[in-house]
Parts: sequence; structure tokens; C-alpha cells
Amino acid sequence: MRIGVPAETRPGETRVAATPETVKKLAAQHEVIVQSGAGLHAAAIDDAYVAAGARIVTAEDALGADLVLKVRSPDAEERALMKPGAALIGMLNPFDTDNLAALAQQRITAFALEAAPRITRAQSMDVLSSQANIAGYKAVMMAANAYQRFMPMLMTAAGTVKAARVLIMGVGVAGLQAIATAKRLGAVIEASDVRPPVKEQVESLGAKFIDVPFLTDEEREIAKGVGGYARPMPADWMRRQAELVHERAKLADIVITTALIPGRKAPVLIAEETVRAMKPGSVIVDMAIEQGGNCPLTELGKTVIKHGVTIIGEPNLPALVAADASALYARNVLDFLKLVIDKDGKLVIDREDEIVRAVLVAIDGDVLRK
Ligand code: NAI
Repeated sequence: MRIGVPAETRPGETRVAATPETVKKLAAQHEVIVQSGAGLHAAAIDDAYVAAGARIVTAEDALGADLVLKVRSPDAEERALMKPGAALIGMLNPFDTDNLAALAQQRITAFALEAAPRITRAQSMDVLSSQANIAGYKAVMMAANAYQRFMPMLMTAAGTVKAARVLIMGVGVAGLQAIATAKRLGAVIEASDVRPPVKEQVESLGAKFIDVPFLTDEEREIAKGVGGYARPMPADWMRRQAELVHERAKLADIVITTALIPGRKAPVLIAEETVRAMKPGSVIVDMAIEQGGNCPLTELGKTVIKHGVTIIGEPNLPALVAADASALYARNVLDFLKLVIDKDGKLVIDREDEIVRAVLVAIDGDVLRK
């Protein structure tokens, strides 16, 4: 099979879907073609791909392969360069039905890796986890950079500096990594989430869990989420959470919000009045900005100062750690390929396989709704 690795074209997208490490493995069985410069921002130069067994080609060639490995879904121009019947693997956004329809119309067999189920067997190909982990780390790095004080407590001859107080809202994969990273920098950390198992995880990382008790069976039931993901909580619970968060945010120096609900707008957790009550010089990193943001004052792709608080709305944090983000993503892709390529190197789609069935979003001209 001819496997193509095009350069990403979306603004700010620095990652690449295959690295010399994964190309070397693929090239043992396939012809691998990589667009010139595809790995440039991810510390993977053309020569390294050649040494791994790939051929360097143009965008037209890479997109015209039998199997195309991408980070983001191709846009209309890129799609036009793909062959009908070709297979595509990437973070295609399974909720973007227009895009899936366009892929199906061109008879592309599309696999959206974000749709993989959160089961043990799928962990090595879980792109949401591999990228959210990096995003959680980078969010703390950006916050520390924007924050005009020290993170750790310091005792100096010129006096004592207090440790920064960090509030993490939403403790999934990104939130847990944000806690661990802020902890290493010496911050004092509090965190909030709707899902009950999170409390123990937060505490095991040495942070304090902000408990919003459940008052009804309905609240308790919804908070369990589905498939590891959260569901929208009832308004009354959200109101009680907001009241508590308001008090905790007033004391915080850095707030990192990562709360998401798959396929929906992100919940608003830091209201404008809470920002107004925060200390001047505080920093918010709103990691949910691509889904509308956890704070209504966040602006997509911008860093703004509102009510004396710096609010960072960077939409693609993993792309700011392009080399490692690509390395992990490319390994996720490679592991997924093991499920759909047989020992003779042919694409075989076993729709009985739970992971393949979940990830396959378009085939034979049809969009597969989940
Ligand atoms: P996510 O990115 O969809 O959401 C981030 C966090 O926001 C979640 O923890 C969610 O509960 C929280 N959230 C949503 N609404 C909220 C609200 N109103 N207030 C506070 N927090 C709110 O979640 P992510 O990071 O993709 O993973 C969620 C969970 O899935 C993980 O914590 C883990 O338990 C599970 N998981 C399981 C895997 C496996 O078994 N293979 C692999 C990866 C994750």
C-alpha cells in the first residue's frame, strides 16, 4: 500500500501524523511518501524521513496515496487531491457532520481517531488522551509564563515569596497533567470536576478537591457521566458549583479550565463576575476555548487582560509542543493501523471490532452515525 503523509495546512497546526520512528516501521511493509517539510515544526526533517525509508514528495502526491495519515481533517482543497476510495486516518472531528458528508461524498474511507472508545485495548491509540496530556502540561507552562510572580514558595534574604495558588476546573486527562505539572513547580492546587472518581485522583496528586455535594439522585446519576465522559449537570448543581468556584477563584493566582462535554458547547464555569472578583495579575488559561470556552471573556487565539486578569485562549496547545505531540500522535496512528492492516499489508475493515466500528465514520459514500 502507498501511505502518504501530507504537511498540515490549518493555521497554527505544527504537528505531523507520522514521524521518522513510525515511518521506519511502516516502510518495512509499505511504500511511504512524505510531503517535503511535513515534519519541519515537529523536529522531523526530510532527511530523517528518507533515512527511515520514505520518499519525499509534493502535497499532491502525499494526498493522492491509498492511505493518507493526517493530524487534522483535510480541507476542501486537500480533499480534492485525494483519490476516491482512499483511506484517511486523522482527528477528523466526528461531530463535524458537514465534513464527514464531504468525505463520504468523495468515497473516502474515513477513520476519526477521537471516536475510539475509552477501553483498555484502545489506550495505545487514544489520541484525545495523548494530546490532552500534552495540552495540560503546556497550559501550566503558559500560565507560569504570563504570571508575573514565582510559582514556588521561596524564602530569600529579601523576604518570603508565597507559593502560587492554582485552581484547575475539569480534571480529565488534561486537568490531571495540569495538576501534576503545577505541583512540580511548587504551586498549591485545588481542583473541581463533576465525576465522583476524580476526587481520589486529585487527592493522590497532592491537590485539594472542591466538593460540590449532590443533593438529588438525578444529580448523582448524571454526574457518573457516560463512557468516562461528563454529561451536562442540572442547573442547580451548576449554580452551587459556581458559588463555590467564585470563592476559590478569588484566592487563586492561576485558573486552568479544561471542562468539556463531548459534542456540546463547553460549560461556563468562570463567570464574568468571578473574573472581576479575582486578584489583579491572576491568569486564566481557558483550554476549552475551541468548544466555546469555560469563561465567557476568553477570546479565541488571543491573550487578553480583562478586569486585571490575563486570559489566554490558545486553541491548540499540543501544537505548541509539536515534536512530542507528533511523536505520541504518530504512535497512536501506528497502533490503530495494526487493527486495519492485515499481514499482507492490505486494508481490512473488521466492523465487528469495537474500536474499528467506533472510529469508522465514512465508507462507500455513507456517513456512519454513532
Ligand atoms: P474531557 O476532555 O471530555 O473533559 C475534561 C473534564 O471536564 C472531564 O473530567 C469532565 O468530567 C470535566 N467536566 C465536564 N463538565 C464539568 C463541569 N461542569 N465542572 C467540572 N468539570 C467538568 O475528558 P477527558 O480528559 O477526555 O477524559 C475523561 C475521563 O475519561 C478521564 O478522566 C478518564 O477517567 C477517562 N479515560 C479513560 C481511558 C481508558 O480507560 N482507556 C483513557 C482516557 C481517559
